[in-house]
Amino acid sequence: MSQRIAVIPGDGIGCEVTAAARTVLDTVCRRHGIELSYDEYDWSCERYLRAGAMMPADGLDVLRPYDAILLGAVGAPGVPDHVSLWGLLIPIRRAFRQYVNVRPVRVFEGVDSPVRGARAGEVDFVVVRENVEGEYSEIGGRLGRGHPEEMAVQESVFTRAGVSRIADYAFELARTRRRHVTSATKSNGIVHTMPFWDEVVTERAAAFPDVRWRSEHIDAVAAKFVLQPGSFDVVVASNLFGDILSDLAAAVAGSIGIAPSGNLDPTGAHPSMFEPVHGSAPDIAGKGVANPIGAVWSAAMMLEHLGHAAAARGVLAAMEATLREPGTRTRDLGGTADTAEVTAALVDHVAG
Ligand code: NAD
Ligand code: IPM
Ligand code: MN
Repeated sequence: MSQRIAVIPGDGIGCEVTAAARTVLDTVCRRHGIELSYDEYDWSCERYLRAGAMMPADGLDVLRPYDAILLGAVGAPGVPDHVSLWGLLIPIRRAFRQYVNVRPVRVFEGVDSPVRGARAGEVDFVVVRENVEGEYSEIGGRLGRGHPEEMAVQESVFTRAGVSRIADYAFELARTRRRHVTSATKSNGIVHTMPFWDEVVTERAAAFPDVRWRSEHIDAVAAKFVLQPGSFDVVVASNLFGDILSDLAAAVAGSIGIAPSGNLDPTGAHPSMFEPVHGSAPDIAGKGVANPIGAVWSAAMMLEHLGHAAAARGVLAAMEATLREPGTRTRDLGGTADTAEVTAALVDHVAG
């Protein structure tokens, strides 16, 4: 029986890179005898402008029965970001309790890191971002609009259950890797939530005596990503800290166009969602030059999540081979290839 995938290409380059990922998936699935079936949904800013909503009122119910969701990116000029993102992306993460956002970072052979000395094989870590609470809360708003005293306030919400489960995920992941966790904190500032984060992470760490760990302030972690990116294994962070760290990490690894992500409900009760870390990139949308690797790597993570580890490894190997060749790198990596050329190279390598 085939596994069912909901595909939401979204806006801008989201559509271009999702099409590339689908092409690679078709090839790798044929090769490995995997049956996936796809339904594509046009939920996007274009739909918002046409129909007044990013997705239908029953959109989440439509997605619920799928085995996984593959998303491109959301956001377009002319639609405020808080409308597009709170109308589609964020509700999916929250409704389906996708409380882990796992974002691997690697410097690939052939890719120049802007960081001196960051070489392939030496930088290989994972940002584990808390994905449903923390600074991304719905509590707050603007007060006194237009008054001289006008203000905006927002509550951060950290729960014991929420911090415990993301810490557990990070420590368990570290057990499958180099057994080291860095917890990003800011308990030295006037941030009431972070001493609580530290307390809960410390408690959970005690359950993993075989994993080394340290707590480091987010500002210092940011500097160390640049100065010693090879020193990290698993980095666990709150929603906002993890968001910022993952773009920084992607840049250290050469381009945000490569970075993948999995929004996971590790309990399996809901579908998980796979999407590149980057956005809809209106500055290059429609030009056919977007780097499809972030979306393709995300699709590989989806294959792994669905139990197809060998196929996922095949896609990773194809990515490595494609990035190694100067002729099949996109402009964000200093190359000249367009999306179609990179996709064709990936397909050739996957097909063997
Ligand atoms: P962005 O990631 O879209 O673009 C940042 C820069 O990186 C741009 O210069 C862009 O050209 C470049 N870039 C991004 N992906 C690339 C790729 N695959 N290949 C080559 N270059 C690439 O971030 P932004 O400009 O802050 O946001 C643009 C829109 O996307 C906004 O509406 C934002 O809210 C939205 N956004 C959506 C998501 C999502 O859906 N998950 C994530 C981030 C931003
Ligand atoms: C990401 C994005 C989103 C986030 C935005 C678009 C809401 O930046 O997936 O990293 O902050 O989670
Ligand atoms: Mn982000």
